[in-house]
Amino acid sequence: MCAEVSPGPDNSRTSEAGAGWVCGSPGTFNDLLPPRVLDFSWRRPAVLWRSRNDVLARLFGDPSNAIRRRCVAALRERGTPAAFTVHRSAPEFSFVLLGDTGEGDRSQYAVVPPLLHAAAGTDFMIIASDVVYPAGDGGQYLEKFFRPYKDYPAPIYAVPGNHDWYDGLRGFLHVFCALDANCSPPPWRGALAFVPRLLWRHPGPIDRAALAEARRTYRGAPGQQAVQPGPYWAIDTPSLRIIGIDTGITGVVDRDQGRWLREVSGGPKPKLLVTGKPLYVDDDHRPGPVEGGGTVDEIVRDPAHHYVAAIGGDIHNYQRYPVRAGDGRTIQYIVSGGGGAFMHATHTIPRTSVVKEGEFRCYPLRGDSLSRYSKLYGRWLRLPRLFELTPEEATAAVRYRLGIRPGRGYRSAATEVRPSRRARFVASVLGVPRDGRRRPRLLRLPVHRLPQRFRSEMADWDRPPFFKSFLRLDVTESQLRIRCYAATGCGDHETAPPCEDEVTIPLR
Ligand SMILES: [Fe+2]
Repeated sequence: MCAEVSPGPDNSRTSEAGAGWVCGSPGTFNDLLPPRVLDFSWRRPAVLWRSRNDVLARLFGDPSNAIRRRCVAALRERGTPAAFTVHRSAPEFSFVLLGDTGEGDRSQYAVVPPLLHAAAGTDFMIIASDVVYPAGDGGQYLEKFFRPYKDYPAPIYAVPGNHDWYDGLRGFLHVFCALDANCSPPPWRGALAFVPRLLWRHPGPIDRAALAEARRTYRGAPGQQAVQPGPYWAIDTPSLRIIGIDTGITGVVDRDQGRWLREVSGGPKPKLLVTGKPLYVDDDHRPGPVEGGGTVDEIVRDPAHHYVAAIGGDIHNYQRYPVRAGDGRTIQYIVSGGGGAFMHATHTIPRTSVVKEGEFRCYPLRGDSLSRYSKLYGRWLRLPRLFELTPEEATAAVRYRLGIRPGRGYRSAATEVRPSRRARFVASVLGVPRDGRRRPRLLRLPVHRLPQRFRSEMADWDRPPFFKSFLRLDVTESQLRIRCYAATGCGDHETAPPCEDEVTIPLR
């Protein structure tokens, strides 16, 4: 399991050191940081204000579909073939995939050394959503895309996430599709349309010369160049077709893209979907609506389409759900959003019901996630003695509340006995569901009145263990092998990144 790229046997399932709680040496990623590290924090009001299009899209309607149609029309006018497909002739190839990368701070750079090591020999990279936070600005691609991945020698493709859409996708289209167009006068109509029109954050101008210089300086080698057909695309190979979709701000796929998706999903060739919104996440099925009817997951499950896996970013951790399709096949539904940005909690995931708990995998382990959050809350509330749980205490509390076998065992009896009242209290107030219940009990701490979105986004930290992750996928004519690697931020894990999960899928 997980051999070849990662000679180190340790991972978060075997020891606390494997999870990065104890670092043998500091990460060399610190040497890669720019002279002035961006002070990125989701707690800054200016950052939240720049993301306001998210709130406007949810309150007044998501304009992504209308804007995307204009962009796609411009791409077609330019001569992009309607299939939006890149053809590759090799039947055997490898690539890396990571989601939600672009904060430009330590948590993004901590992923780079283990990524470069595990990505050795791969043919391309895919970024699944949120290439540039907080709002996709073209001006920030230098620090959050070109510079961090300067040493990755092959092309990078991407599907946009909601944050890339907050500038009307202008930066994304310029960098990945070589399209310089402002497609986005927002399309709202009606009596209240003046509100979103007034507040909508319009894309800033693109500084073409600066972006061209950034590309030349950091990713200028011939082998690094690629122009993808559009915000949605397919990479067709003799053994596997990889299909990337653009889910806009709120996760809806427009009618034209839906028609294209059904067309490229046809035929007997095995398919892999890459999406900005995962179809299974946090023990929840989110099939992804298609404008005009149907869902993305209906297309994925259709036996005539031969999907073997669907991988989505957006949620900043790793989760895998092997779901049985109606015809006896198993489709691997994976969340891979741990590529650089703050960590979303996994300890709030209930004992799974969409697949058996024993078949579910996540990274970080729920106990590590709870321990990390307990330390954060202890610091914020200035109550470390009350809140802080060691990884072992947190693991025991998760086992007790969820009634699951923990991902990491301990030799001591502490994880086998009833955890302390304090540990149970902390687990409760930090959102570990009780048994199979989806929601925690009624809680009275004000922190729990915060929406999950802000609870987690405020939980950005810049020291190991980072609990970041990325995937390496190896394709042969007969199988697809997917491995999830951890980026802890520890120096000893940079050349031997812990392999946290692995699945091999037959392609015939
Ligand atoms: Fe994200």
